Amino acid sequence: MNPNLDRLQPYPFQKLNKLFEGISPQQAYPPISLHIGEPKHATPDFIRHVLTDNLSGMAVYPTTLGARPLRASIARWLTRRYSLSDIDPDTQVIPVNGSREALFSFAQAVIDPSRPEAIVVCPNPFYQIYEGAALLAGATPHFLNTLPENDFALDYGQLPEEIWSRTQLVYVCSPGNPTGRVMTMDEWRRLFELSDRHGFIIASDECYAEIYFDEDAPPLGALAAAQRLGRSGFPRLVVFSSLSKRSNVPGMRSGFAAGNASILKEFLLYRTYHGSAMNPAVQAASKAAWDDEHHVIENRRLYREKFAAVTESLQQTLQVSMPDAAFYLWVRTPISDVQFTAELYRHYNVSVLPGSYLARYAGGINPGENFVRVALVASLAECMEAVERIKMLMSTA
Ligand SMILES: Cc1ncc(COP(=O)(O)O)c(C=O)c1O
Repeated sequence: MNPNLDRLQPYPFQKLNKLFEGISPQQAYPPISLHIGEPKHATPDFIRHVLTDNLSGMAVYPTTLGARPLRASIARWLTRRYSLSDIDPDTQVIPVNGSREALFSFAQAVIDPSRPEAIVVCPNPFYQIYEGAALLAGATPHFLNTLPENDFALDYGQLPEEIWSRTQLVYVCSPGNPTGRVMTMDEWRRLFELSDRHGFIIASDECYAEIYFDEDAPPLGALAAAQRLGRSGFPRLVVFSSLSKRSNVPGMRSGFAAGNASILKEFLLYRTYHGSAMNPAVQAASKAAWDDEHHVIENRRLYREKFAAVTESLQQTLQVSMPDAAFYLWVRTPISDVQFTAELYRHYNVSVLPGSYLARYAGGINPGENFVRVALVASLAECMEAVERIKMLMSTA
Protein backbone atom coordinates (compact mmCIF):
# COMPACT_ATOMS: atom_id res chain seq x y z
CA MET A 1 0.00 0.00 0.00
CA ASN A 2 1.01 3.62 -0.48
CA PRO A 3 2.70 4.52 2.84
CA ASN A 4 1.46 8.10 2.50
CA LEU A 5 -2.05 6.80 3.27
CA ASP A 6 -0.87 6.33 6.85
CA ARG A 7 -0.09 10.05 7.04
CA LEU A 8 -3.76 11.02 6.51
CA GLN A 9 -5.55 12.41 9.55
CA PRO A 10 -9.11 11.45 10.52
CA TYR A 11 -11.57 13.87 8.91
CA PRO A 12 -13.03 16.48 11.34
CA PHE A 13 -16.48 14.87 11.15
CA GLN A 14 -15.00 11.53 12.21
CA LYS A 15 -13.48 13.28 15.22
CA LEU A 16 -16.85 14.88 15.94
CA ASN A 17 -18.64 11.51 15.77
CA LYS A 18 -16.11 10.18 18.25
CA LEU A 19 -16.69 13.15 20.56
CA PHE A 20 -20.46 12.58 20.41
CA GLU A 21 -20.16 8.81 21.01
CA GLY A 22 -21.52 8.07 24.43
CA ILE A 23 -23.32 11.42 24.78
CA SER A 24 -27.11 11.16 24.81
CA PRO A 25 -28.45 14.53 23.74
CA GLN A 26 -31.44 15.96 25.59
CA GLN A 27 -34.40 14.53 23.65
CA ALA A 28 -36.70 17.39 24.61
CA TYR A 29 -34.93 19.37 21.91
CA PRO A 30 -35.14 18.33 18.26
CA PRO A 31 -31.67 18.06 16.68
CA ILE A 32 -30.20 21.07 14.88
CA SER A 33 -27.18 20.42 12.74
CA LEU A 34 -24.82 23.33 12.11
CA HIS A 35 -21.53 21.44 11.95
CA ILE A 36 -21.39 20.58 8.27
CA GLY A 37 -21.04 23.08 5.42
CA GLU A 38 -23.74 21.52 3.30
CA PRO A 39 -26.07 24.09 1.73
CA LYS A 40 -29.71 23.44 2.60
CA HIS A 41 -31.54 26.04 0.51
CA ALA A 42 -33.65 24.48 -2.23
CA THR A 43 -32.09 23.49 -5.55
CA PRO A 44 -33.70 25.76 -8.17
CA ASP A 45 -36.34 23.94 -10.25
CA PHE A 46 -34.88 25.02 -13.59
CA ILE A 47 -31.58 23.26 -12.76
CA ARG A 48 -33.43 20.03 -11.88
CA HIS A 49 -35.42 20.24 -15.11
CA VAL A 50 -32.39 20.79 -17.34
CA LEU A 51 -30.72 17.85 -15.63
CA THR A 52 -33.60 15.46 -16.29
CA ASP A 53 -34.19 16.83 -19.81
CA ASN A 54 -30.64 15.83 -20.70
CA LEU A 55 -30.54 12.26 -19.45
CA SER A 56 -30.06 11.07 -23.04
CA GLY A 57 -26.47 12.28 -22.61
CA MET A 58 -25.88 9.17 -20.51
CA ALA A 59 -25.58 7.19 -23.74
CA VAL A 60 -22.22 8.75 -24.66
CA TYR A 61 -18.80 9.01 -23.06
CA PRO A 62 -18.09 12.63 -22.15
CA THR A 63 -14.68 14.16 -22.91
CA THR A 64 -12.44 15.14 -20.01
CA LEU A 65 -12.33 18.72 -21.27
CA GLY A 66 -16.13 18.94 -21.23
CA ALA A 67 -18.43 20.30 -23.95
CA ARG A 68 -17.60 23.68 -25.42
CA PRO A 69 -20.99 25.29 -24.58
CA LEU A 70 -20.36 24.68 -20.86
CA ARG A 71 -16.80 26.03 -21.03
CA ALA A 72 -18.02 29.06 -22.98
CA SER A 73 -20.69 29.71 -20.32
CA ILE A 74 -18.13 29.47 -17.54
CA ALA A 75 -15.79 31.84 -19.43
CA ARG A 76 -18.67 34.31 -19.91
CA TRP A 77 -19.55 34.05 -16.21
CA LEU A 78 -15.93 34.69 -15.20
CA THR A 79 -15.77 37.70 -17.54
CA ARG A 80 -19.00 39.13 -16.12
CA ARG A 81 -18.27 38.41 -12.49
CA TYR A 82 -14.65 39.55 -12.39
CA SER A 83 -14.61 42.05 -15.30
CA LEU A 84 -11.96 39.95 -17.02
CA SER A 85 -10.92 41.24 -20.41
CA ASP A 86 -10.11 37.81 -21.73
CA ILE A 87 -10.47 34.16 -20.75
CA ASP A 88 -10.21 31.44 -23.36
CA PRO A 89 -12.80 28.67 -22.90
CA ASP A 90 -10.62 26.25 -24.86
CA THR A 91 -7.39 26.58 -22.91
CA GLN A 92 -8.13 28.40 -19.65
CA VAL A 93 -11.21 26.58 -18.31
CA ILE A 94 -11.78 22.93 -17.30
CA PRO A 95 -15.11 21.75 -15.82
CA VAL A 96 -14.55 19.53 -12.75
CA ASN A 97 -16.71 17.19 -10.68
CA GLY A 98 -16.91 19.56 -7.71
CA SER A 99 -13.98 21.65 -6.53
CA ARG A 100 -13.01 19.04 -3.93
CA GLU A 101 -11.78 16.44 -6.38
CA ALA A 102 -10.08 19.16 -8.45
CA LEU A 103 -8.28 20.71 -5.46
CA PHE A 104 -7.08 17.22 -4.58
CA SER A 105 -6.06 16.05 -8.06
CA PHE A 106 -4.35 19.37 -8.81
CA ALA A 107 -1.64 18.65 -6.25
CA GLN A 108 -1.10 15.19 -7.77
CA ALA A 109 -0.53 16.82 -11.16
CA VAL A 110 1.68 19.76 -10.16
CA ILE A 111 3.93 18.44 -7.38
CA ASP A 112 7.33 17.23 -8.55
CA PRO A 113 8.24 14.57 -5.96
CA SER A 114 11.75 14.20 -7.42
CA ARG A 115 12.67 17.63 -6.07
CA PRO A 116 13.83 17.30 -2.46
CA GLU A 117 11.40 17.84 0.39
CA ALA A 118 8.52 19.38 -1.54
CA ILE A 119 6.33 21.70 0.54
CA VAL A 120 2.70 22.69 0.08
CA VAL A 121 1.71 25.80 2.05
CA CYS A 122 -1.84 25.76 3.49
CA PRO A 123 -3.79 28.20 5.65
CA ASN A 124 -4.48 27.03 9.21
CA PRO A 125 -7.37 26.37 10.02
CA PHE A 126 -8.14 25.03 6.58
CA TYR A 127 -10.28 22.87 4.31
CA GLN A 128 -8.95 19.39 5.02
CA ILE A 129 -8.50 18.34 1.41
CA TYR A 130 -5.39 20.53 1.02
CA GLU A 131 -3.49 18.50 3.59
CA GLY A 132 -4.47 15.09 2.18
CA ALA A 133 -3.71 16.27 -1.36
CA ALA A 134 -0.23 17.41 -0.31
CA LEU A 135 0.53 14.21 1.59
CA LEU A 136 -0.62 11.85 -1.16
CA ALA A 137 1.38 13.85 -3.71
CA GLY A 138 4.46 13.07 -1.61
CA ALA A 139 4.84 16.61 -0.26
CA THR A 140 4.73 17.95 3.28
CA PRO A 141 2.07 20.50 4.21
CA HIS A 142 3.34 23.61 5.94
CA PHE A 143 0.73 25.61 7.82
CA LEU A 144 0.31 29.35 7.93
CA ASN A 145 -1.76 30.35 10.96
CA THR A 146 -4.61 32.81 10.39
CA LEU A 147 -5.17 34.58 13.68
CA PRO A 148 -7.77 36.96 15.13
CA GLU A 149 -5.11 39.53 16.07
CA ASN A 150 -4.27 39.71 12.38
CA ASP A 151 -7.92 39.82 11.28
CA PHE A 152 -7.46 36.19 10.05
CA ALA A 153 -5.27 37.36 7.16
CA LEU A 154 -2.49 35.13 5.80
CA ASP A 155 0.71 36.51 7.24
CA TYR A 156 3.32 35.35 4.74
CA GLY A 157 6.07 36.76 6.96
CA GLN A 158 5.58 33.70 9.23
CA LEU A 159 7.52 31.55 6.76
CA PRO A 160 11.32 31.64 6.43
CA GLU A 161 13.08 31.72 3.02
CA GLU A 162 14.14 28.11 3.53
CA ILE A 163 10.47 27.03 3.48
CA TRP A 164 9.53 29.23 0.52
CA SER A 165 12.46 27.86 -1.48
CA ARG A 166 11.04 24.30 -1.18
CA THR A 167 7.41 25.39 -1.72
CA GLN A 168 5.89 24.05 -4.92
CA LEU A 169 2.23 24.83 -4.29
CA VAL A 170 0.26 27.27 -2.11
CA TYR A 171 -3.42 26.76 -1.37
CA VAL A 172 -5.39 29.85 -0.46
CA CYS A 173 -9.07 29.97 0.35
CA SER A 174 -10.93 33.24 -0.21
CA PRO A 175 -13.60 33.67 1.09
CA GLY A 176 -12.06 31.48 3.74
CA ASN A 177 -13.48 28.37 5.34
CA PRO A 178 -13.91 28.71 8.31
CA THR A 179 -13.16 32.40 8.93
CA GLY A 180 -15.00 33.95 5.98
CA ARG A 181 -12.02 36.26 5.39
CA VAL A 182 -11.64 37.67 1.86
CA MET A 183 -8.11 38.31 0.61
CA THR A 184 -7.32 41.93 -0.26
CA MET A 185 -5.52 43.30 -3.30
CA ASP A 186 -2.40 43.91 -1.20
CA GLU A 187 -2.37 40.31 -0.04
CA TRP A 188 -2.65 39.10 -3.64
CA ARG A 189 0.14 41.43 -4.73
CA ARG A 190 2.41 40.04 -2.02
CA LEU A 191 1.53 36.42 -2.83
CA PHE A 192 2.17 36.96 -6.55
CA GLU A 193 5.54 38.55 -5.72
CA LEU A 194 6.47 35.51 -3.62
CA SER A 195 5.34 33.19 -6.43
CA ASP A 196 7.49 35.13 -8.94
CA ARG A 197 10.47 34.89 -6.63
CA HIS A 198 10.15 31.22 -5.66
CA GLY A 199 8.32 29.72 -8.64
CA PHE A 200 5.46 28.07 -6.74
CA ILE A 201 1.97 27.55 -8.17
CA ILE A 202 -1.07 29.12 -6.47
CA ALA A 203 -4.31 27.14 -6.14
CA SER A 204 -7.01 29.63 -5.19
CA ASP A 205 -10.08 27.97 -3.68
CA GLU A 206 -13.01 30.32 -4.32
CA CYS A 207 -15.94 27.98 -3.75
CA TYR A 208 -17.66 30.52 -1.43
CA ALA A 209 -17.14 33.49 -3.78
CA GLU A 210 -20.87 33.84 -4.44
CA ILE A 211 -22.02 33.89 -0.82
CA TYR A 212 -21.56 37.52 0.28
CA PHE A 213 -23.66 40.15 1.97
CA ASP A 214 -23.40 43.38 -0.01
CA GLU A 215 -24.67 43.06 -3.58
CA ASP A 216 -22.45 46.01 -4.53
CA ALA A 217 -19.26 44.54 -3.11
CA PRO A 218 -18.61 40.99 -4.33
CA PRO A 219 -15.36 39.41 -3.07
CA LEU A 220 -12.23 40.02 -5.09
CA GLY A 221 -11.06 36.89 -6.91
CA ALA A 222 -7.54 35.80 -7.83
CA LEU A 223 -8.04 36.16 -11.59
CA ALA A 224 -9.34 39.72 -11.17
CA ALA A 225 -6.43 40.58 -8.86
CA ALA A 226 -3.96 39.14 -11.39
CA GLN A 227 -5.53 41.05 -14.25
CA ARG A 228 -5.47 44.33 -12.32
CA LEU A 229 -1.78 43.80 -11.66
CA GLY A 230 -1.14 43.23 -15.36
CA ARG A 231 -0.34 39.54 -14.97
CA SER A 232 -1.31 38.54 -18.46
CA GLY A 233 -2.02 34.81 -18.90
CA PHE A 234 -2.30 34.35 -15.10
CA PRO A 235 1.24 33.02 -14.50
CA ARG A 236 1.35 30.12 -12.01
CA LEU A 237 -2.27 30.70 -11.01
CA VAL A 238 -5.32 28.41 -11.12
CA VAL A 239 -8.64 29.15 -9.38
CA PHE A 240 -11.25 26.59 -8.32
CA SER A 241 -14.91 27.45 -8.17
CA SER A 242 -18.09 25.52 -7.61
CA LEU A 243 -21.85 25.45 -8.09
CA SER A 244 -22.39 23.59 -4.80
CA LYS A 245 -22.91 26.65 -2.60
CA ARG A 246 -23.72 29.18 -5.32
CA SER A 247 -26.63 27.20 -6.75
CA ASN A 248 -27.45 24.78 -3.89
CA VAL A 249 -26.43 21.67 -5.79
CA PRO A 250 -23.80 19.99 -3.59
CA GLY A 251 -24.89 16.56 -4.84
CA MET A 252 -24.52 17.49 -8.50
CA ARG A 253 -20.72 17.68 -8.19
CA SER A 254 -19.95 20.55 -10.51
CA GLY A 255 -17.31 23.23 -10.57
CA PHE A 256 -14.41 24.40 -12.68
CA ALA A 257 -10.69 25.15 -12.67
CA ALA A 258 -9.58 28.25 -14.58
CA GLY A 259 -6.36 30.16 -15.07
CA ASN A 260 -2.96 29.61 -16.61
CA ALA A 261 -3.24 27.68 -19.87
CA SER A 262 0.02 25.72 -19.69
CA ILE A 263 -0.71 24.45 -16.17
CA LEU A 264 -4.26 23.53 -17.18
CA LYS A 265 -2.93 21.63 -20.21
CA GLU A 266 -0.88 19.40 -17.89
CA PHE A 267 -3.77 19.15 -15.44
CA LEU A 268 -6.04 18.02 -18.28
CA LEU A 269 -3.52 15.34 -19.24
CA TYR A 270 -3.51 14.11 -15.64
CA ARG A 271 -7.30 14.15 -15.53
CA THR A 272 -7.58 12.17 -18.77
CA TYR A 273 -5.80 9.25 -17.09
CA HIS A 274 -7.46 9.84 -13.74
CA GLY A 275 -10.83 9.56 -15.52
CA SER A 276 -12.74 12.55 -14.27
CA ALA A 277 -15.01 13.64 -17.12
CA MET A 278 -18.31 15.28 -16.17
CA ASN A 279 -21.62 13.50 -16.81
CA PRO A 280 -23.27 15.16 -19.88
CA ALA A 281 -26.59 15.76 -18.06
CA VAL A 282 -24.65 17.50 -15.27
CA GLN A 283 -22.81 19.54 -17.88
CA ALA A 284 -26.11 20.77 -19.33
CA ALA A 285 -27.53 21.60 -15.89
CA SER A 286 -24.28 23.34 -14.94
CA LYS A 287 -24.38 25.49 -18.05
CA ALA A 288 -27.92 26.59 -17.17
CA ALA A 289 -26.83 27.39 -13.61
CA TRP A 290 -23.79 29.47 -14.63
CA ASP A 291 -25.98 31.36 -17.13
CA ASP A 292 -28.45 32.52 -14.46
CA GLU A 293 -27.88 35.02 -11.65
CA HIS A 294 -31.42 35.45 -10.33
CA HIS A 295 -31.34 32.35 -8.17
CA VAL A 296 -27.92 33.34 -6.83
CA ILE A 297 -29.15 36.77 -5.79
CA GLU A 298 -32.11 35.14 -4.02
CA ASN A 299 -29.76 32.66 -2.33
CA ARG A 300 -27.67 35.55 -0.99
CA ARG A 301 -30.79 37.30 0.26
CA LEU A 302 -31.60 34.25 2.40
CA TYR A 303 -28.08 34.16 3.86
CA ARG A 304 -28.07 37.92 4.44
CA GLU A 305 -31.33 37.66 6.38
CA LYS A 306 -30.00 34.79 8.51
CA PHE A 307 -26.62 36.33 9.23
CA ALA A 308 -28.13 39.67 10.25
CA ALA A 309 -30.61 38.05 12.66
CA VAL A 310 -28.22 35.45 14.09
CA THR A 311 -25.23 37.74 14.66
CA GLU A 312 -27.37 40.45 16.24
CA SER A 313 -28.86 37.99 18.71
CA LEU A 314 -25.72 35.95 19.38
CA GLN A 315 -23.64 39.08 20.01
CA GLN A 316 -25.54 39.52 23.28
CA THR A 317 -23.79 36.41 24.62
CA LEU A 318 -20.70 35.60 22.57
CA GLN A 319 -17.97 37.45 20.70
CA VAL A 320 -19.18 37.15 17.14
CA SER A 321 -19.06 39.38 14.09
CA MET A 322 -20.17 39.24 10.47
CA PRO A 323 -17.68 37.45 8.23
CA ASP A 324 -16.58 39.13 4.97
CA ALA A 325 -18.37 36.33 3.09
CA ALA A 326 -19.24 32.57 3.05
CA PHE A 327 -21.82 30.92 5.30
CA TYR A 328 -19.91 30.26 8.53
CA LEU A 329 -19.69 32.05 11.83
CA TRP A 330 -16.29 31.56 13.43
CA VAL A 331 -17.22 32.01 17.05
CA ARG A 332 -14.84 32.43 19.95
CA THR A 333 -15.83 30.18 22.88
CA PRO A 334 -15.49 31.11 26.55
CA ILE A 335 -14.55 27.50 27.37
CA SER A 336 -12.56 25.01 25.29
CA ASP A 337 -14.07 24.54 21.84
CA VAL A 338 -14.32 20.79 22.33
CA GLN A 339 -16.06 21.18 25.69
CA PHE A 340 -18.41 23.84 24.30
CA THR A 341 -19.35 21.54 21.40
CA ALA A 342 -19.94 18.54 23.69
CA GLU A 343 -22.02 20.54 26.19
CA LEU A 344 -24.14 22.18 23.51
CA TYR A 345 -24.85 18.77 22.04
CA ARG A 346 -25.51 17.12 25.40
CA HIS A 347 -27.88 19.74 26.81
CA TYR A 348 -29.46 21.26 23.70
CA ASN A 349 -28.98 18.80 20.80
CA VAL A 350 -27.22 21.37 18.60
CA SER A 351 -24.12 20.24 16.72
CA VAL A 352 -21.31 22.64 15.75
CA LEU A 353 -17.70 21.87 14.84
CA PRO A 354 -14.76 22.47 17.22
CA GLY A 355 -12.28 24.85 15.60
CA SER A 356 -9.33 22.79 16.77
CA TYR A 357 -10.54 19.90 14.56
CA LEU A 358 -10.08 22.14 11.50
CA ALA A 359 -6.52 23.16 12.32
CA ARG A 360 -3.10 21.67 13.13
CA TYR A 361 -0.50 22.67 15.68
CA ALA A 362 1.85 25.14 14.01
CA GLY A 363 4.17 27.70 15.57
CA GLY A 364 3.37 26.19 18.98
CA ILE A 365 -0.40 26.71 18.82
CA ASN A 366 -3.56 25.28 17.35
CA PRO A 367 -5.17 28.44 15.90
CA GLY A 368 -8.62 26.80 15.87
CA GLU A 369 -8.61 26.28 19.63
CA ASN A 370 -11.37 28.15 21.47
CA PHE A 371 -13.35 28.71 18.29
CA VAL A 372 -16.27 26.79 16.88
CA ARG A 373 -17.47 26.81 13.29
CA VAL A 374 -21.20 27.36 12.99
CA ALA A 375 -22.56 26.75 9.48
CA LEU A 376 -25.71 28.83 8.99
CA VAL A 377 -27.11 26.42 6.47
CA ALA A 378 -30.38 25.46 8.19
CA SER A 379 -33.54 27.57 7.89
CA LEU A 380 -33.74 30.98 9.57
CA ALA A 381 -36.14 29.55 12.17
CA GLU A 382 -33.80 26.66 13.00
CA CYS A 383 -30.76 28.94 13.15
CA MET A 384 -32.59 31.30 15.53
CA GLU A 385 -33.71 28.38 17.65
CA ALA A 386 -30.07 27.23 17.83
CA VAL A 387 -29.06 30.74 18.96
CA GLU A 388 -31.62 30.61 21.79
CA ARG A 389 -30.23 27.26 22.92
CA ILE A 390 -26.63 28.55 22.78
CA LYS A 391 -27.73 31.49 24.95
CA MET A 392 -29.29 29.08 27.44
CA LEU A 393 -26.05 27.11 27.56
CA MET A 394 -24.11 30.32 28.18
CA SER A 395 -26.45 31.43 30.94
CA THR A 396 -25.85 28.20 32.84
CA ALA A 397 -22.10 27.97 32.16
C1 LIG B 1 -13.21 25.60 1.31
C2 LIG B 1 -13.88 24.56 0.50
N1 LIG B 1 -13.39 24.28 -0.71
C3 LIG B 1 -13.95 23.34 -1.50
C4 LIG B 1 -15.07 22.65 -1.09
C5 LIG B 1 -15.62 21.59 -1.98
O1 LIG B 1 -16.82 21.92 -2.55
P1 LIG B 1 -17.40 21.15 -3.81
O2 LIG B 1 -16.56 19.93 -4.02
O3 LIG B 1 -18.78 20.83 -3.48
O4 LIG B 1 -17.25 22.09 -4.97
C6 LIG B 1 -15.63 22.91 0.16
C7 LIG B 1 -16.82 22.16 0.62
O5 LIG B 1 -17.35 22.30 1.65
C8 LIG B 1 -15.02 23.90 0.98
O6 LIG B 1 -15.50 24.20 2.19
